[in-house]
Amino acid sequence: MSTAKLILEGKEYDFPVLIGSEGELGVDVTGLRARTKAITYDPGYANTGSCKSAVTYIDGEEGILRYRGYPIEEMAESSTFIEVAYLLIYGQLPNLRELEAFQDQLTHHSLIHEDMKKFFEGYPRGAHPMTILSSMVASLEAYYPDAANGEDINLNIIRLLAKAKTIAAFTYKKSIGQPYVYPRNDLSYPADFLHMMFAVPAEPFPISPSLENALNLLLVLHADHEQNCSTSTVRMVGSSQANLFAAISAGISALSGPLHGGANQQVIQMLDMILKDGGNYQKYVDMAKDKKSDFRLMGFGHRVYKNFDPRAKILKKVADRILPEMGIRDPLLELAKHLESAALKDAYFIERKLYPNVDFYSGILYRAMGIPTNMFTVMFALGRLPGWIAHWLEMRNDPTTRIHRPRQIYTGQVKRPFVSVDQR
Ligand code: SDX
Repeated sequence: MSTAKLILEGKEYDFPVLIGSEGELGVDVTGLRARTKAITYDPGYANTGSCKSAVTYIDGEEGILRYRGYPIEEMAESSTFIEVAYLLIYGQLPNLRELEAFQDQLTHHSLIHEDMKKFFEGYPRGAHPMTILSSMVASLEAYYPDAANGEDINLNIIRLLAKAKTIAAFTYKKSIGQPYVYPRNDLSYPADFLHMMFAVPAEPFPISPSLENALNLLLVLHADHEQNCSTSTVRMVGSSQANLFAAISAGISALSGPLHGGANQQVIQMLDMILKDGGNYQKYVDMAKDKKSDFRLMGFGHRVYKNFDPRAKILKKVADRILPEMGIRDPLLELAKHLESAALKDAYFIERKLYPNVDFYSGILYRAMGIPTNMFTVMFALGRLPGWIAHWLEMRNDPTTRIHRPRQIYTGQVKRPFVSVDQR
């Protein structure tokens, strides 16, 4: 094993260097503080590995994304979301019997306890669907307390995967004042979600294969992305042995931020604003470069991808293909392409290796499906659910897992005596 040498205050220390499956290197600083009294400092953890994981591999320079070794391009082309969920969680692609059994379990756990419907009554009309999703997922523990002590983990994984789409669809129905539409056992995961979202009791919702396939693709593309902000949150909360539902609820909250999963909603709002401002996209490219402005091109840039986000490339192609198929001509798609082309030619974006990320085109497709903008990040969360679960399970099954507890560089006041209020 190779080592890295640290020279600190004249003393030399050797640390082992870990080598990942794809040859990536990691300096193992376990025991650094005990040996040197020093810690590392890495705000935003841009250079810090929090764990070893076998779930997903990303090469940001080469624009590579693989789920358990399978390239995202092949998964997007040939796999179903349920198949991807099985792969991520259990580590192998299911055979036909395993896939059917998994689908059957999900189908028969898709109802939520009738009492949970009362929760929806308590939210104000404008409550953001991510707020509701996060609290409803956390509340699942109240109905399945065995989740707290980890009994029958797999049943709770199934419950969570199956019920999250029902909670999401019910949240939408509640927000538009329509009656809830219950899951159907004869439909695929994406088709059943579209059914619960858009059917009305008096009138079944005809699910077009292109709509079902487009949603399946979006869910597959969002299924996992290694140690992103929300997945790291799930691991952080799970490391205290909080139950599965609590850990995933925390992940949903982290994802809701506009710099993370909330970006897909921000992208559409940004494109809408540019369109309403005469479509002058160059003005907004220039604003995004201006340090005096806090405007950013939402859907652009990535902590890891310093080349194209492969998911963005796939989504752009799909949007180009299926919008005409659906007879939709969305001016926001044309505007997005102009904006992308202008930014990719601009030195500011080129120097900083800022490319479109998964959020840049996903909203265009959600819009084409009739999904409202404030539900876009919920769609991201439904897609990311198997990834979060896979990482929670991997962490839970790892005997070396310790509670996550980073250190800090203290910059506050040094010791000083207390002064009573009449002396201040
Ligand atoms: C997701 O981690 C994951 O894997 C996330 C994700 C997943 O699947 O889980 O891929 C999903 O969250 C995608 C990202 C969605 N967010 C956005 O689209 C929001 C807009 N993008 C940014 O805010 C930003 O690019 C981040 C948050 C995505 C990344 O932030 P970093 O890595 O901390 O980069 P940074 O903010 O330090 O930016 C580096 C430079 C800065 O300029 P300088 O200080 O060097 O002059 O690039 C600039 C930034 O100002 N910059 C941008 C920009 N993004 C970065 N400038 C204009 N527009 C942008 N979008």
